[in-house]
Amino acid sequence: MHFLLIARDEQQLLSLKQEVESPKVTVDFVSGSLQDKATHDRLEVKLLDLNSQQMFQQVILINNAGSLGEARYLTSDYSAETIPFLQDYFAFNLTSFIAITGSFLHIFSDVVNRVVVNISSLVAIGAIRGMSVYGAGKAARDAFIRSIALEYPGVTAINYAPGPVQTDMADQLKKASHVEEFYSNPSNLLKAEDTVEKLVKLLKKEFEFENGAHIDYFDIP
Ligand SMILES: NC(=O)c1ccc[n+]([C@@H]2O[C@H](COP(=O)([O-])OP(=O)(O)OC[C@H]3O[C@@H](n4cnc5c(N)ncnc54)[C@H](OP(=O)(O)O)[C@@H]3O)[C@@H](O)[C@H]2O)c1
Repeated sequence: MHFLLIARDEQQLLSLKQEVESPKVTVDFVSGSLQDKATHDRLEVKLLDLNSQQMFQQVILINNAGSLGEARYLTSDYSAETIPFLQDYFAFNLTSFIAITGSFLHIFSDVVNRVVVNISSLVAIGAIRGMSVYGAGKAARDAFIRSIALEYPGVTAINYAPGPVQTDMADQLKKASHVEEFYSNPSNLLKAEDTVEKLVKLLKKEFEFENGAHIDYFDIP
């Protein structure tokens, strides 16, 4: 099994690589911001290289990277003034997601078993105070995944909402948002391994779902 990781912090990527690697598991990474085209160019070179080295039985893309934006802003706080912020926000959370996913689909077009996962959010299909822009990005990502399911029915396409998870993002929500109270109560938060376990159930098809659907942590027994 081979993992290709992408994030900005090279030291953390290196320590994760050392933690995960074993005789049966190899790990490679690209460090850089997904907001920058140069990172995407380096990523594409890696993907092309991997595809030329071997014929994979299965390839899985997990689009996990994401950011919260300004969780204290309400809808009326956006204006001409916030356009540069919004452009940066969507460049990372939406444009980059579309570019990576498209590259993945065409580079691995000969692999029979392709899976694309969007790490989504409950707010993609609902509304949470202060999370309008975050939700708009997640809803757009969900729509792109539904289009994959339509255009390439052989590709498994999943929008997975992981539930409230104890991560750095949860710490941000605890400090500066309109959901501080909820995120400050540890009993409301899931451990990363709990939500990953449910995602693995989806990947193993142990839970039946319509291709391209939005599936929440709490939907899966
Ligand atoms: N935590 C929750 O309660 C919750 C709920 C619903 C959905 N989600 C979704 O779950 C996913 C993971 O969130 P999380 O809670 O783990 O957030 P997090 O703790 O803030 O982690 C974000 C991840 O994205 C990477 N990242 C951030 N900016 C990047 C950039 N410009 N380029 C490349 N990578 C970048 C970070 O690595 P580097 O810093 O090294 O770049 C990190 O691995 C997100 O899509 C989030 O929207 C989370």
